[in-house]
Amino acid sequence: MAEKSENKLEKIVSLCKRRGFIFPGSEIYGGLSGFYDYGPLGNELQFNIKHAWWNDVVRKNDNIVGLKADIIMNPRTWESSGHVLGFSDPMVECKKCHLRFRPDLLEDKKCPNCGGKEFSEARQFNLMFKTFVGPVEDSASVAYLRPETAGGIFVNFKNVLDTMRVKVPFGIAQIGKAFRNEVNPKDYIFRTREFEQMELEYFVKPGTDDEWFKKWVADRMAWYESIGLKNIRKFQQPKEELAHYSKGTTDIEYEFPFGWKEIEGIANRTDFDLKAHSAGSGQDLLYTDPDTGEKFVPYVIEPSAGVDRIALAVLCDAFNEEKERVVLKLHSKLAPYKAAVFPLLKNKPELVEKARGVYMELRKHFNVAWDDRGNIGKRYYSQDEIGTPMCITIDFDTLNDDTVTVRDRDTMEQKRVHISELAGLIQKAIE
Ligand code: GAP
Repeated sequence: MAEKSENKLEKIVSLCKRRGFIFPGSEIYGGLSGFYDYGPLGNELQFNIKHAWWNDVVRKNDNIVGLKADIIMNPRTWESSGHVLGFSDPMVECKKCHLRFRPDLLEDKKCPNCGGKEFSEARQFNLMFKTFVGPVEDSASVAYLRPETAGGIFVNFKNVLDTMRVKVPFGIAQIGKAFRNEVNPKDYIFRTREFEQMELEYFVKPGTDDEWFKKWVADRMAWYESIGLKNIRKFQQPKEELAHYSKGTTDIEYEFPFGWKEIEGIANRTDFDLKAHSAGSGQDLLYTDPDTGEKFVPYVIEPSAGVDRIALAVLCDAFNEEKERVVLKLHSKLAPYKAAVFPLLKNKPELVEKARGVYMELRKHFNVAWDDRGNIGKRYYSQDEIGTPMCITIDFDTLNDDTVTVRDRDTMEQKRVHISELAGLIQKAIE
């Protein structure tokens, strides 16, 4: 059972700031609500999450290809997709301080800013960020920052079909930034205004969509297990909460310190998008079966995951306070550093030289940390806090027999290993 208290989240926020995972966005100017920057370790963590997802979704399946579309697209894309008219949240204004909030997120119907209890009638507020393309700022040059990466996939459906010899069922995957002008950014990096999505649009023959939907829900659950995430569950969205394009959506939720919340949604988008873009663009987006000649508009199953929410879930899951240490028990696949190398003593040049050799050799293959400060205990503490799975100490015996001490983060057990075995040991932990 996950620790419920907000206190745990505060401790994670503090660790992330102190150890270079996550900083408030543009902090020296007082920050900007709903924006965060990832520091060196947070960037590595995100990179590892994206790498694990890409490997599982694209590399493992030879009928899935990748794509990198632009963030700013022809605004007609978002008219066809329904986002210009329909992508909005209700918003109320506090009559006392005039700040605006999503009514469903107000606790005890009180203004979180001033405590006021009177609000305006709810108004619909479109969540897309607007900008202008070119030097003239008029309605003809309005464009949007994409609210989901999926749009880029749908408008390139025909390009991929024509160039990649793919046959239904096949998928197009994309990782990239999405933007939503959320009324209430909330819960640290859980609900932000700029975030990253990992999305797959999987095109299938109508009639086979329910089977594929089940398969993708199962596959996605298995992926979370493969990155060591516990405390997850499936949640079927009730009909009245479905997005305008969805026939059915199953969320994968994680038990955060602030409750069970969605980290990924798997939707059956039917043929809504291809039909809408075909009508909007006037282009034929029909698929012709090369074997039978049958023509149809494919249905789409869409697993859509948020990198930032997964990063937060992984950090919450990994965070442990033990008697004398704080430890992030991250899966080796996700840990920013796969190992840390220490010379036993900093003032013994022969030890430092030997340790540097081991360190530089391992760095050719893995992200490895170097630490020669303080005593070994402090170095272990420091590496535990950032989730480094193993610490490698070079001592006087190493100079004679090329063996080193390897200390395991989770069990804190130590064993003697030959230098030639280190790379294999790290690789095994990752796999
Ligand atoms: N293309 C479908 C789509 O965008 P969504 O449920 O709105 O569906 C998918 O978003 C995922 O994107 C969510 O499960 C979540 O992980 C992430 N996400 C959505 N809004 C977010 C926000 N404001 N901040 C951080 N992540 C967000």
